[in-house]
Amino acid sequence: MTIIVTGGAGFIGSNFIFYMMKAHPDYRLVCLDKLTYAGNLSTLKGVLDMPSFRFVRGDICDRDLVYSLFDEEHPDAVVNFAAESHVDRSILDPSLFLQTNIIGTSVLMDAARRAGNIRFHQISTDEVYGDLPLDRKDLFFTETTPLHTSSPYSSSKAAADLLALSYHRTYGLPVTISRCSNNYGPYHFPEKLIPLMIINALKGKSLPVYGQGINVRDWLYVEDHCRAVDLILHKGRIGEVYNVGGHNEMRNIDIVRIILRQLGKSEDLITFVEDRKGHDLRYAIDPQKISSELGWLPETKFEDGIRKTIKWYLDNESWWQEIIDGEYQDYYERMYSGRLEPR
Ligand code: NAD
Ligand code: DAU
Repeated sequence: MTIIVTGGAGFIGSNFIFYMMKAHPDYRLVCLDKLTYAGNLSTLKGVLDMPSFRFVRGDICDRDLVYSLFDEEHPDAVVNFAAESHVDRSILDPSLFLQTNIIGTSVLMDAARRAGNIRFHQISTDEVYGDLPLDRKDLFFTETTPLHTSSPYSSSKAAADLLALSYHRTYGLPVTISRCSNNYGPYHFPEKLIPLMIINALKGKSLPVYGQGINVRDWLYVEDHCRAVDLILHKGRIGEVYNVGGHNEMRNIDIVRIILRQLGKSEDLITFVEDRKGHDLRYAIDPQKISSELGWLPETKFEDGIRKTIKWYLDNESWWQEIIDGEYQDYYERMYSGRLEPR
């Protein structure tokens, strides 16, 4: 089987490539990635020379390139991780999010149709459901929860989901969609909450917690997400959406405190800063459908996952140092300067 994995130089896509290489050593994996600020070829350096792997630098919006890649590779399936994925960046400038997340997905699905209606899996997010109130612990997102987005990022992902479902209904494209909660683990880009807090703590810098730090996310170790995608790709029902989440809800401030404790750093580093615009309060996935239909359950407990993740950042300083030495500094300045004053 040949699978085109888009966005495979990013956080989850790279972990998926590593996972699939172990789970299915006979598969050919072709990674198509534009190498935006979030994509790092160094992440893939351990697999670049493998005969069962090919890396192609390119944009999923580039129709000619995508069509010729499909003509060369005759893939059996596509798993689309490629996206602009950072909510904060989408608030600064939505335009690229619409281009990559919506147009790019449609180009890939056109290519999948043109290649004979091959299998297409869209990686989506729990953010398409909007948020839940903090005081209603009884409420969860199910696959039938109405889409109700808050940010340009989540709106672009919701648009892609609707397009994917429409390609299934209109053209019979064999589509599945997974909507996952927050992932964490190795190769997580240093702008996102967990790596940012680990790295700032290691550097003795302020830890910028938005608002009061009481927003809740449902954290899932990335390998558990990769296993879910593998299962859906092979055993999922065509035309269906599957929620993927760990029943592991935590407040941001509690995550930050755990990181500081594990690194032996002072809580004085915590700085409460101006809140994110439109900040979603709580995400919580009900993973009943994937559990009962496909037998998926998260395997990594948060206390183990966060310990492994912190250790990975301690052991792989060169990976993140190279990133934070680059364009990251401009982004950090734009996002946080003037915001880092204690309120
Ligand atoms: P990421 O930002 O770390 O990686 C995205 C990758 O896509 C990068 O390698 C980037 O170079 C590539 N890319 C971006 N635009 C491209 C384009 N036009 N053409 C080709 N490649 C392009 O993102 P991630 O956190 O790994 O997320 C992967 C997917 O999972 C996204 O679709 C995201 O919406 C979804 N998701 C992420 C999470 C999470 O917690 N990180 C949770 C649920 C869903
Ligand atoms: O829920 C799935 C989503 O999870 C994915 O669809 C997105 O691609 C992914 O980036 C992630 O989105 P979040 O916005 O939840 O992740 P982020 O790491 O940016 O923020 C997590 C929480 O931490 C959120 O409530 C905002 C807060 N935060 C974040 C940063 C970067 C802070 O308090 N301070 C920060 O500096």
